Amino acid sequence: MPVTAPGPCGTCPPESPRRRFRGRFQERILSHSDQPRPLQSRAGGPLAGKVRVPGDKSISHRALILGALSVGESRISGLLEGEDVLNTAKSMRALGARVERTGDFAWSVRGVGVAGFAQPTAPLDFGNSGTGCRLVMGAVAGCPISAVFDGDASLRSRPMRRVLDPLEKMGARVVAGGEGGRLPLTLQGARDPLPITYKTPVASAQIKSAVLLAGLAAPGTTTVIESEASRDHTELMLRHFGADITSIAEGAHGRRVALVGQPELHGARVVVPADPSSAAFPIVAALIVEGSDLVLTDVMTNPLRTGLFTTLREMGASIEESDVRGDAGEPMAQLRVRASRLRGVEVPPERAPSMIDEYLVLAVAASFAEGTTIMRGLHELRVKESDRLAATADMLRVNGVKVEISGDDLIVEGRGHVPGGGLVATHMDHRIAMSALVMGCASDQPVKVDDTAFIATSFPDFIPMMRALGADLS
Ligand code: S3P
Repeated sequence: MPVTAPGPCGTCPPESPRRRFRGRFQERILSHSDQPRPLQSRAGGPLAGKVRVPGDKSISHRALILGALSVGESRISGLLEGEDVLNTAKSMRALGARVERTGDFAWSVRGVGVAGFAQPTAPLDFGNSGTGCRLVMGAVAGCPISAVFDGDASLRSRPMRRVLDPLEKMGARVVAGGEGGRLPLTLQGARDPLPITYKTPVASAQIKSAVLLAGLAAPGTTTVIESEASRDHTELMLRHFGADITSIAEGAHGRRVALVGQPELHGARVVVPADPSSAAFPIVAALIVEGSDLVLTDVMTNPLRTGLFTTLREMGASIEESDVRGDAGEPMAQLRVRASRLRGVEVPPERAPSMIDEYLVLAVAASFAEGTTIMRGLHELRVKESDRLAATADMLRVNGVKVEISGDDLIVEGRGHVPGGGLVATHMDHRIAMSALVMGCASDQPVKVDDTAFIATSFPDFIPMMRALGADLS
């Protein structure tokens, strides 16, 4: 079985401007202003092979940020070299850290210590990445500097007030821009940041992480309370870098996280496991294409990220785990996925935080299932890279699947097959593009997507990897 190693930018043909480099790898041009890249996916033979999808995006952002806030050197292996993470790497450099690529997916960060960021001389551009932008806002909020935060049209449309509200309580201020809580804006960090106790209004690891990163610079204990537990990579990694942080149960599904401020963080080694949110695409493709048999190595299996796997198994999916191990508190395993007959299920709202990025591709699986799948409590999907609730319904509808949005719920009528034949609008959203291409792998007629360029934000080698596994993408 072939092992496909991710390359620098799998979605770009050789002549593309995105292939041009200005000196070092991490300074390559990241503009999406060039022509859209449409692509078509059609049913072919079974998918087979053994692959490692790229490193986890959430952990990659955090490793760079915590490395930059530490004293000494951090060595990161398996970093996701997608555009979102490369923008975070650039911003850490602009804030004074030494960030270097030392090999394939291997990076070194020499940090400036907690609250040690330098005043950046240019705006920090986070491109398409809400995670990079919001986490760095938290880290900047605890430093006596000001920074301009900006991003692409998708990021400029996303709400930032959810992060700015607690950061202002800690002493940071928005001094320019930020109309309606949107980018571009200038954030002035606090000279003397205050520790706070903050109850997050929505289950969001980005809000929690921003508050904790600002709390690093505050004296005393910063506490975040969430009524639904969101991914805990920041907590696990803060502990790995030397912080005193505790997390205990709160209510039925929540957590109370307490961080003792002003620790000395020490550079650490971080091994980034494969991203379960990226693995989701080949996994669903293998489930719906008859005869498929796929192995994915090193997939992170942190229970706060595996709601999709739970749901797919409830639908009848054959997903076997082996080689279970862990590194720095993050569990991982090898997954073997075989084509399966799926049936519709009801997905409870409290599962949403553990699979918040996976509903698009779950909706694809649900379209190929027999029976109705009801996904409850999806309000947060409206404020992702696009309005994913509306975009998912559109993706299914244009391909002949019966789908309904009822309040915050998505209801998909699975009929065991998908007519296909539709053109899917990707709305600058990588996960819409990949989900639609997965749908086309098994639909009666090909599925087209209008632009695959944004796939490079999270899964640069998605297209060549899927082709190597047997998908017909042209
Ligand atoms: C992320 C948190 C989630 C998720 C995003 C990554 C993170 O966002 O959708 O892709 O790394 O903290 P929210 O915090 O808005 O739920």
